[in-house]
Amino acid sequence: MLLTVPIMLWANTVSMACDVAPIQAGYPQLASARPVPGMRFGKAAERLCIDIKSAADYPPLNQPVSPLPLTASDPNVRFICLDGPKGTGKTTVLEAATHALRACGHKVVRLSEKNCDPQRGPTMAMVNQLARHPDPALELEVCQRLADSRAWISQQVLPRQPSGCIVLMDRWYPSDAAFRRLLPFEQVLQLNLERRVRVPDLHMGITTAPEISWARAAARTRGLGSTVLQHVEEHAACTQAFEQAAQRHGLALCRNEGRVEAAVEEVVARVRQVL
Ligand SMILES: Nc1ncnc2c1ncn2[C@@H]1O[C@H](COP(=O)(O)OP(=O)(O)OP(=O)(O)O)[C@@H](O)[C@H]1O
Ligand SMILES: [Mg+2]
Repeated sequence: MLLTVPIMLWANTVSMACDVAPIQAGYPQLASARPVPGMRFGKAAERLCIDIKSAADYPPLNQPVSPLPLTASDPNVRFICLDGPKGTGKTTVLEAATHALRACGHKVVRLSEKNCDPQRGPTMAMVNQLARHPDPALELEVCQRLADSRAWISQQVLPRQPSGCIVLMDRWYPSDAAFRRLLPFEQVLQLNLERRVRVPDLHMGITTAPEISWARAAARTRGLGSTVLQHVEEHAACTQAFEQAAQRHGLALCRNEGRVEAAVEEVVARVRQVL
């Protein structure tokens, strides 16, 4: 930890590495998820159970809710996150947008949540367990851990970036809308906001039809690289959940189905609007 934290503080590259090996078992139906009998999460997790709200406590999907807050906490650094389901081209677009913005004289720092998170290993082990045994209490704990890490990144990593720079972050809390689906995204969002996780100046959602991103991800040298997804149907459900949350919260969506240059132009144009 002592050795790795300073390295992570200055990490500005985006790794293509996968955190943990993909699970072998299929992803069980979320709708039928129940706590696993005999499974113990300890006192902290048991306490968390009482905080869980059901989806009925939140507005239905087709009813508008307030958009994601867009208040910048540091006017000298523009913080932009790119989120979306697996394989939609976030990293590709982020890297190309970095080059395009730098070519215009902007100071750009690329970060990825995965690489900055000091708790990533243990958290992903829990995500792996969650994929095998869907359970709301465990999902809540995962969401809290991710939010705690983002709060740490907000306090320890973001303030150390050069003044006046643009930070492009590969995944931030909007991605939870695709992957954490036992808790309503609105509750996940609240967990992040109450921990004072940095609110992006711009949330970009990168999407494609699920068949396209699935095929592109599978064709990569490293393959799909997913901890939780085994089948295209699960990926389609993630895509739908993300797009619905994006619509409810007014995320700027970029559909990366054509030439990557077109998606990059769209993202760069959106970034310019918040400079
Ligand atoms: N517009 C595009 N046309 C064709 N191929 C593309 C396009 N955009 C990205 N790709 C390719 O799709 C694959 C997935 O892209 P990338 O790894 O950037 O996705 P990602 O969203 O970062 O994935 P992950 O969620 O796993 O991090 C890569 O091989 C990339 O080269
Ligand atoms: Mg990526």
